[in-house]
Amino acid sequence: MNQWLDERLHISRLNDKFLRKAFPVHHSFFLGEITLFSLIILILTGILLALSYEPSNSMVVNSFDPGTSDAPNLIPAAYHSTLKINAAPFGDMLRRIHHWTANIMVAASVIHMMRIYFTGAFKKPREINWWIGMLLLIFAALTAVTGYVLPYDNYAYNTLKVIYSIAASIPWVGEWVAQAAFAGKFPGDGVIPRVYGYHIMLLPGILLALTAAHMLIMIKQKHTQPQYAKRIAYKKIVGVPLMTQQTPIMLMLALLFAGIIVLFSAFIPVHPVEYFGPPTTTPIENIKPDWYLLWVFGVLAIIPGFEFNFLGGNINSEFVGAILLPTLTLGLMFAVPMLDRSRENLYYAENPTNHPVRLGLGVAFMMLLAVWSVAGYKPELISAGILTTENANTVLWIATFLVPALSYFFVQAVVRGIRALREADERDRTIHAAHADD
Ligand code: HEM
Repeated sequence: MNQWLDERLHISRLNDKFLRKAFPVHHSFFLGEITLFSLIILILTGILLALSYEPSNSMVVNSFDPGTSDAPNLIPAAYHSTLKINAAPFGDMLRRIHHWTANIMVAASVIHMMRIYFTGAFKKPREINWWIGMLLLIFAALTAVTGYVLPYDNYAYNTLKVIYSIAASIPWVGEWVAQAAFAGKFPGDGVIPRVYGYHIMLLPGILLALTAAHMLIMIKQKHTQPQYAKRIAYKKIVGVPLMTQQTPIMLMLALLFAGIIVLFSAFIPVHPVEYFGPPTTTPIENIKPDWYLLWVFGVLAIIPGFEFNFLGGNINSEFVGAILLPTLTLGLMFAVPMLDRSRENLYYAENPTNHPVRLGLGVAFMMLLAVWSVAGYKPELISAGILTTENANTVLWIATFLVPALSYFFVQAVVRGIRALREADERDRTIHAAHADD
């Protein structure tokens, strides 16, 4: 059979070229795969949800509570179809799996990015894959946000209103951009079909194209290797072959991951659309975005209100807080491979403690985003009496500079400590070796 296939499909060449390819083994390399598996689960569950979801905000009779023929209870079709999905067997579970996988995908790609940053795996020749990775992260978050508003309950409606007003805050072209993006003035009849098109076509298409480029470049450039590989065979790929080791490992990981997602979804409910009800004009107090956008919300919460006219365009705190500052922050992340370059190709993942400045700056940056995320809970911190309305902004702005600075110097101290321990260890080993020779 093999020979028959080989004569016609040259599978032995395929085997030699691809299936015998060595995959470096290290647990932190599973993070990229977990992100990939999440994408696959999202597409599969998304297709199933799309079979029942109605992407329309035209009003229909609520079949769960129709009202009377004189006063029928009308709700948007999108919201109604989400209620129907919830009521269908396994419907609510499907929504939960889709929702939690989206959150886990963003989280896994963030941790994947941290692994790459702290081990220097963004250095030559992998700068391009860092930039593609950054785009993957941004589009993954955008896809999650567009999905978030599709149930079109009152929470989603208020979230869309916030997103629309942020887009409209862009000076000179804001209103045009907002109306172009959301199919007219909000809440227009076209807003749900438009966002649906983004969520199931445009953004997944971009994600799939970027992921394919990401994988092809990774295969072409070969993966960085853990330090132990250096001792086994220098500058050679040390790893397990795709067939028959890496594939079963990946399969086990995928099944384990799917099992954890199902278990998680079985116990942790998601966004209760019934609780928020259909969209109304009543704003929801302290509405918040998902955790990966909380830092943007936090910046908005502590920026003092201002507005000024510049060359005919209005520059206000919403634009600066929700667009300008986040863009500068993401710009800094894009610039990482230009800030820490190497002339030579990097073969081995670097030990983070051997690069204390990069390590310290990375931790400080994460602390900055953490402080801004906490600022996203300013109203709750005030109502809990931890901050007051008078001092909240001052305290959070001081924390914005102090916490990252302190964590940078803390990391330097820890690295110095680790180095001192390592040197003492080395000294002990030399002394013992010397004594052993006596
Ligand atoms: C949807 C998101 C993403 C997917 C599906 C994905 C997938 C993967 C996979 C499967 C690998 C190989 C295994 C591994 O090293 O973990 C990988 C490697 C890599 N990824 Fe990603 N990734 C994503 C996001 C990112 C992000 C956000 C960055 C950086 C900003 C990034 C940069 C890289 C780099 C530089 C490599 C090569 C690593 C090396 O050779 O050590 N990726 N990615």
